[in-house]
This record gives sequence, C-alpha cells and structure tokens, in this order.
Amino acid sequence: VKPTGKYADRFGGQLVLVTGAGSGIGRATAFAFAEAGARVIAVDRDAESAVRTAELSRLIGAPEAWAETVDVSDEQAMEKLADKVTTQYGVLDVLVNNAGIGLGGSFFDTTPEDWKKVLDVNLWGVIHGCRLFGRHMAERGQGGHIVNTASAAAYQPSKALPAYSTSKAAVLMLSECLRAELAGQGIGVSAICPGFVNTNITSTARFAGVDAEEEKRRQKRTARLYGLRNYPPEKVADAILRAVVRNQAVVPVTPEARGAHLMS
Ligand code: NAI
Repeated sequence: VKPTGKYADRFGGQLVLVTGAGSGIGRATAFAFAEAGARVIAVDRDAESAVRTAELSRLIGAPEAWAETVDVSDEQAMEKLADKVTTQYGVLDVLVNNAGIGLGGSFFDTTPEDWKKVLDVNLWGVIHGCRLFGRHMAERGQGGHIVNTASAAAYQPSKALPAYSTSKAAVLMLSECLRAELAGQGIGVSAICPGFVNTNITSTARFAGVDAEEEKRRQKRTARLYGLRNYPPEKVADAILRAVVRNQAVVPVTPEARGAHLMS
C-alpha cells in the first residue's frame, strides 16, 4: 500500500514505537504513522489487541509492523523490549509513551495500592520508555522524537482524579526537563494534553468514593461549554504527528484542554 498520510514525506520508512497501541489514542496513533508509511511497533499489555493493531497497520500502509506484549510498568520487560527492538529492528525515530490507566476516586478513598497502580503505569511506564529508548537515540546521534501522552488533567485539578492528575502533572514536567536536556542533541520531546476523548479509558474509569453521576454531569457540562461532541482519538493522533513535525513542547488538544491551558 502506498502511503497516503499527509506526513508521508516526513515519516516514510521511519521506525516508530507506540505503547498502549491496542486501543483508543494509541491505536489511532499507530494507524496515523502507518498511513504515513512508517514501520510500526505496537506495544500493549493486551496481546490480542496489539496483534490486531499491527495487522491493521500493515493493511493501512506500514511497510512493516510488529506487535509486542509488554507491561510498560515492568522495568525488566521494558529492558528486554529495548534490547530486542534495537538489535532486531534498529534505533527508534519516534517513541510514543502513551499507555495509561484511568483510576478515579476522592483523595481519601484512593488507597495506597491504587496510587501505586496509577503511578506505576502512567509515570514509571513513561520513565522506563524515555530512559531506555532515549539513550539509544542519543547514542546514535541522528536525532529523534519522544512524545508522552499527558493530559489536561495535568494542569486542571479535579477532586475525582487526584492520583491520575498527579501522574499526568509529573509526566508533563518530566517531558519538559527531558526536552531541555536533549535539545542539544536534536531530539525533541513533546507532552500531549488531551481533554475528554471518547475511548475505553473514559467509559470504564472507576471512581471510588466519588458520586459517579455528579462526575458524569460535570463532564457533560464541560462538554456543552466547549461544544464538545465525542472528540475522536484520531484527532489526538493527528496532533501527535503534528507535534513531532513542528517539534512542539506542550500540546493541549481538545477545546476544553486548550481553554484550561490558557487560563492556567
Ligand atoms: P484506552 O484505555 O482506550 O487505551 C489504553 C491502552 O493502554 C489499552 O490498550 C491498554 O491495554 C494499554 N495499557 C494500559 N496499561 C498498560 C500497561 N501497563 N502496559 C502496556 N499497555 C497498557 O485509553 P486512551 O484514552 O486511548 O488512553 C491513552 C492515553 O491517553 C493514556 O495515557 C491516557 O491517560 C491518555 N489520555 C486519555 C484521555 C481520554 O479522555 N481518553 C484524555 C487525556 C489523556
């Protein structure tokens, strides 16, 4: 399949790895890179959905696509993945640390176990990815780009999402620090901050000790306020590719995320 994506000139033949590629924003991002003719590595802890993303990526236009079943919070598994990728496929041109879990609850109803779960995946998963793959990019000396999926929750406090918002604020700061450190080596780092996007994470989020109905009403009010209607993951994927092309630092994506970013 000949690449048709609008960024085909930029990403054709490049090696791109996306975590959380089995669903939602990650899958849409893998497809957008595939459309642009990139070679795609789809990583997810769910084996079947990663394989599906890789199969479809090939059909869409990726000259090669592979699936890897890895839990991004597992440091050893990530080390193995980095070794395998570098020896078998080459050094990454683009890394998208996107895997994340949504776990809500009031501050006092969020257990230490839940805090750990969220930070392990949403923050440590990004740290492992940046450390292991970023080092290879730097050693190769030919530039590259790292995109981390943060969230509007990183700068928009919500009493329903203390652990999630904290993990995303940390990802935002980590991205800015790493961006400063790698700038001299031609490696860009972007933090993507979507607001409410229609994916599994938003339909299955669990809210301990919080009035789930009140939370839904709040989200609907916000959606009305900003004229949001089922914001699709494909638009976030497009913003991710654009962030790489333009080397943008922080990218608020949905209208309400942009609004909050401007206010903060
Ligand atoms: P999703 O639930 O549709 O997709 C997340 C994917 O990550 C799933 O395929 C899941 O199996 C995978 N995953 C989860 N934990 C993993 C782990 N430990 N190791 C490997 N894979 C793992 O959710 P969505 O919305 O596509 O989320 C993607 C990213 O976007 C997340 O980081 C999320 O926090 C962020 N985000 C989502 C927003 C939304 O409204 N949907 C808004 C702002 C940010």
